[in-house]
Amino acid sequence: MSTSSDTQKQMYEAYASSYTIFLKNWQVNRQKALEMLEKHLQSSLSKQTEVSVLSVGPGPGEFDKQLIHFLQQNMAEGQPLKYVVVEPNHIHRQIFEATMQSANVGKVHFEMHPMTIEDFQTNEKFDCIHYTHSIYHMPGQERRLILESLDMLKDAGVLLITLDTEEAVIFKLITKYAEVVGNDQYWQEGSSQMMESSKLREIIDDIGLSYQFESYPEYLDVSACFEENLEEGKVLMDFLFQANLRDASAELNQQLLSLVEEVAIEQNDRKMLYLPAGTFIMPKQ
Ligand SMILES: C[S@@+](CC[C@H](N)C(=O)[O-])C[C@H]1O[C@@H](n2cnc3c(N)ncnc32)[C@H](O)[C@@H]1O
Repeated sequence: MSTSSDTQKQMYEAYASSYTIFLKNWQVNRQKALEMLEKHLQSSLSKQTEVSVLSVGPGPGEFDKQLIHFLQQNMAEGQPLKYVVVEPNHIHRQIFEATMQSANVGKVHFEMHPMTIEDFQTNEKFDCIHYTHSIYHMPGQERRLILESLDMLKDAGVLLITLDTEEAVIFKLITKYAEVVGNDQYWQEGSSQMMESSKLREIIDDIGLSYQFESYPEYLDVSACFEENLEEGKVLMDFLFQANLRDASAELNQQLLSLVEEVAIEQNDRKMLYLPAGTFIMPKQ
């Protein structure tokens, strides 16, 4: 008989393999967040006895790898770097370690916490805390997590939150799918929609925080969804609708594919979805 922790493990495994396919097809702009960070952190980094970062939900660690290289370029020689990771998915923790090993990041003191951010506690203070495309997974907790993160910053530290903007067509697809299968059945308790940048901005404005925000285009290549019986296309469809469509009827799958077709744009003979992202940067306040 399967226990709930076995089920959780299987869900993490399924999510990690679908996220690998998503990453392969995602034209992501990681540079923008680094440029924003550079303006805020450049002058303060070299003054710290140790530079420390908290990464919430790093997944396979692609952004983290770039962030570490960026920090090292802006740090003094020999200055220690501590990199704290909070990642509940065991497969993502394994891939993260492999990413760092192959990235030649040199001497970095990594600390891995196999848990959700909601369960994480520390007395440490950080120069940078970032939630990069992970805040969707903490429905209803955003306000508390932002406030707690600001408390965990050093005086010159910054909180960076990157997520899709409300213009990302994935939200249209999810909303339509929820209508088709019945809203009550689709949305988890405590959340009626997915987090996106305009909703997060409302929360941040409501708290009264100062911040900067920049948005920028990103795309997802969904051409594989239109090729019959291609596993990659099926995985992408599941990811787009945040659902398991394997047991869904052929009619429903066709209906959902038509929805994708409606919002897709053609670029170099590929079918692309427009998924713009935005980054908030908030100083300690
Ligand atoms: C969409 S992926 C983003 C991964 C990576 N930051 C990137 O930009 O590619 C979301 C990540 O957040 C993690 N995650 C989900 N819920 C979380 C939670 N409550 N606390 C911390 N991380 C969480 C997932 O395991 C996953 O690795």
